[in-house]
Amino acid sequence: MRRIVILISGRGSNMRAIIRAAQNEEWPAQIAAVISNKADASGLAYAAEHGIPALVVANKDYPSREAFDAALQSKIDSFTPDLVVLAGFMRVLTTPFVAHYAGRMLNIHPSLLPSFVGLATHRQALAAGVKLHGATVHFVTAELDHGPIVAQAAVPVLADDTEDTLAARVLEQEHIIYPRAIRCFIDGRLSVLDGVVRINQAA
Ligand code: GRF
Repeated sequence: MRRIVILISGRGSNMRAIIRAAQNEEWPAQIAAVISNKADASGLAYAAEHGIPALVVANKDYPSREAFDAALQSKIDSFTPDLVVLAGFMRVLTTPFVAHYAGRMLNIHPSLLPSFVGLATHRQALAAGVKLHGATVHFVTAELDHGPIVAQAAVPVLADDTEDTLAARVLEQEHIIYPRAIRCFIDGRLSVLDGVVRINQAA
């Protein structure tokens, strides 16, 4: 069994989609732990209800970004994960932390990268007037919201969209592509060459 640790900061709807897919599709993988940097993250209760260790490592308890990342890393590593999944984990990570999980840490970002990095991606998309928007699953590298792209989904931007309606349409796709991308990882089907991900055919 492969071991997955999921990091969240809030409601954890992507985390729920991943837990659901792992159970329904009987993944050869176990969600070993869910860790939040916020004590009030509502996703923690869902994980605990599903028998998954749900822990808090609160960034506010640490004097620096480096100290927090070191504490988080040692907590994550106590679960010996094959893969670390960032699912709405709202922290900029230090370079040593990212390097430690190189090739085994995924993130989902609510835009079609490389467009619209950072925060308020739906607002950015509306302001740019793009007609397609979406979500991206990528390997995490030192540069924020960059890194080899594993999966993307596009949705139309409608004339009467608000940030909320657009976010909801994108989120629906996130819940499809993130579990699918993780499944490819745990099945050993992803390889990266020159920053480009190749998804190998299932054996
Ligand atoms: C998602 O839109 C994700 O792409 C972004 O933060 C949001 C988290 O939502 N990184 P949830 O906590 O998974 O519901």
